[in-house]
Amino acid sequence: MTIVKEKILAPLPGNYNLENYDEIRRTFTWEDASSELFWKAGKVNAAYATVDRHVDEGYGDKIALHYANGDERRSLTFREVKEKTDHYARVLKKHGVKKGDRVFVFLPKTPECYIAILSVIKIGAIAGPLFEAFMEEAVKDRINDCSGTLLITDRELGKRVPREEIPSLQTVLYDDEIEAEDVEAVPGEELTEWVGPEDGMLIHYTSGSTGKPKGVLHAHRAVSHHYVSGKWVLDVKDDDVYWCTSHPGWVTGSVYGLFAPWLNRATVIIQGGRFKAEDWYRLIEEFGVTIWYSAPTAFRMLLSKGDALKQFDLSSLRHILSVGEPLNPEVIHWAWNELGVRIHDTWWMTETGGHLIVNLPAEPIKPGSMGRPFPGITVGILDENGQELPRGEVGQLAIRTPWAGLMKEIWGNKDRFDAYFKYEGWYLSGDLAYQDEDDYVFFQSRDDDMINSSGERIGPFEVESKLIEHPAVAEAGVIGKPDPVRGEIVKAFITLRPGFRESAELLEDIRVFVKQGLAAHAAPREIEVMEELPKTVISGKILRRELKALEAKRAEESSVATGN
Ligand code: WTA
Repeated sequence: MTIVKEKILAPLPGNYNLENYDEIRRTFTWEDASSELFWKAGKVNAAYATVDRHVDEGYGDKIALHYANGDERRSLTFREVKEKTDHYARVLKKHGVKKGDRVFVFLPKTPECYIAILSVIKIGAIAGPLFEAFMEEAVKDRINDCSGTLLITDRELGKRVPREEIPSLQTVLYDDEIEAEDVEAVPGEELTEWVGPEDGMLIHYTSGSTGKPKGVLHAHRAVSHHYVSGKWVLDVKDDDVYWCTSHPGWVTGSVYGLFAPWLNRATVIIQGGRFKAEDWYRLIEEFGVTIWYSAPTAFRMLLSKGDALKQFDLSSLRHILSVGEPLNPEVIHWAWNELGVRIHDTWWMTETGGHLIVNLPAEPIKPGSMGRPFPGITVGILDENGQELPRGEVGQLAIRTPWAGLMKEIWGNKDRFDAYFKYEGWYLSGDLAYQDEDDYVFFQSRDDDMINSSGERIGPFEVESKLIEHPAVAEAGVIGKPDPVRGEIVKAFITLRPGFRESAELLEDIRVFVKQGLAAHAAPREIEVMEELPKTVISGKILRRELKALEAKRAEESSVATGN
């Protein structure tokens, strides 16, 4: 292991919500940190805490969101968001949605997507947000897995919902239908369902290395994690304009796009449309964004655009946050030199419900490290017997249980849930890392076959399953291949069925088949045809490890050949 000593970045002068890390770490409890919030006679409702509370406390006229998509602009106050959420909630109730029902939201990144999610949670049902790029198979598998009964979508995305293949799905509501529904408020109505902290709130599907995506269920208690991490890590304050670029179908887009900033009463930006460096910079300038949360791939794309930023005034930025994949020191230095701000890396997972390892605004950054444990969090680096390793040694990254945001269950799959807790008292992340003498944690790699492309988690099994549905594909092994911009790309090794011959057209057809059946980000960017795939002798299981080793060997050979 080579440890590159990077220059430590000191905090910028400022007043931060968390000034004294060491002291807070000593005294922290989840109850204290979130007590001002939301327990109403032991009951809670995450949607109430996130939006309605601000209206009740006199902040109804504050701008909750600015929406930008191309030339379109809309802004809504907290009162308007609440009223619209109430309307959606009434429509859901009219259609028979009850506490605990799974209601999916399949919408592009619009205010209505956020509002639909809140409305589901408000009436005590469990919201399942779906990423807008999902295609039929991905949508179907997720709704079927937890027997979703209702789906909110729009006319476009709704075309990708194979209703006849989802037996539990009783109702599909289009956003324009909901808007037009005539449901009046009745005097004395109580739309908010007051639930217990352990009641289900949110289900996010995420990939592992084996099997189909798993439904990670979060409980209402998670909002205390969202709230304190929003306050201390995002460091949002009343006059901040906050922008998280992730879609709520990913956990970053829901927890840090919606809940954490709004629990802290921040004004958020919701931007539709695709990534374009100039558009992104323009948005920061136009709305005076002060805090910006995105992913290393996006920063690397911006960095490669070089001078694009020179024509914009980005001086409103106080700091930037990063998540989802390793953040290269080069990117941190770029932001420091070009924008005069620090990028704070944050580490967490869909399963953890909130930040666990962070760079706080008032603390020094060691570039190359993800930061230090969030208050209330203890990190362990474990060997294969579950014993803690000394500082500096690489091992399995684990977290002492419990904490507020930790998932409640994997839907319908106790074995998969239990596998995270195989060492007593620890949550096992599946990442490899080491921790230095000053508590900073350094990411090394995944400990399994999960693929991380542009910060998006992709399960090889899901892609392989789709590939072999193509008439030409006999077998498939899918891995993440290292890539300088995206971290990894999806690469598929396949064998062909008799009667098929390799050609550029065929490979493109296979790629498009996965893209249109599953999702664009899951489609292999590279497909390689082999005579045979490496397999275990006994069970005949495809050995992704060997495919990875093959790629690594080739990369080494080519770097020797080019002298890089
Ligand atoms: C990876 C995203 C390096 C890691 C919130 C983890 C990271 C997985 C970082 C979770 C980081 C997340 N540096 N790697 N700062 N943050 N990861 O569930 O492998 O989509 O296990 O959650 O992303 O991905 P997920």
